[in-house]
Amino acid sequence: MIQLKTDDEVDIMRESAKLAAEVLVMIEPFVQPGVTTNRLNDLCHDFIISHGAIPSPLNYRGFPKSICSSVNEEICHGIPSDRKLRNGDVINLDITTYLNGFHGDTSRMFHVGSARKKMSRLVETCKEALQSAIKLVRPGAFLGDIGATIQNLAEERGYSVVREFCGHGIGRAFHEDPQVLHVGTFGEGLELRKGMVFTIEPMINEGKPDLKILADKWTAVTTDGLASVQFEHTLAVLENGCEVLTRIDGLTDF
Ligand code: MF3
Ligand code: CO
Ligand code: CO
Repeated sequence: MIQLKTDDEVDIMRESAKLAAEVLVMIEPFVQPGVTTNRLNDLCHDFIISHGAIPSPLNYRGFPKSICSSVNEEICHGIPSDRKLRNGDVINLDITTYLNGFHGDTSRMFHVGSARKKMSRLVETCKEALQSAIKLVRPGAFLGDIGATIQNLAEERGYSVVREFCGHGIGRAFHEDPQVLHVGTFGEGLELRKGMVFTIEPMINEGKPDLKILADKWTAVTTDGLASVQFEHTLAVLENGCEVLTRIDGLTDF
């Protein structure tokens, strides 16, 4: 069942979402060759706690850390560890905060050290795919419009879209209805309504879309070992369009 949010609830959600976005701004200068993903986890954890919030991933269905960190061929749900980042790696940091009874969820890619050209093209495509999907979000549009836009752009450039994970409604619960697929057909699926709040979080693979889950039961990786990238925003459907709750003007560029 879809939990439509009132204007007052969207006001409250804005705070949690903004904090999640601020974590990504805070952490950027620390994403450098030699840093461990545990260190990034701890910095994010402390920042979230010091702002009176809770990191939603911690203990969520047994997840052991406060953020997800997914490097190179890791698609999502990577667990922070003693792994040291290396020059040329690409990493997604996925931040979810719980504040005043509501969750906010956002993630972005970082190039570690110098960006490889091949990776820049993949990362920019994923960012563009999310942005073009967001532009369509308004009452009367369809979930299929979102999926189709992302799928068309990714496949046009020779990439593929991960099917096993999707965006989701978000609010008092971390994951609510509806499921927001990143593939689809224009005009199909659920019609959007004012008060819906959900994430769009496309995972785009350099090669094949296939994945497997590692023995840690969380980390999803590509089966072909090629890179996977992801960006995520939380957005609210308004009367005449939408508001990206995890975007901070002038500070976030996606
Ligand atoms: N933040 C992820 C999402 O975008 C979910 C992470 S679940 C966790 O939906 F348990 F791995 F944290
Ligand atoms: Co997320
Ligand atoms: Co999400």
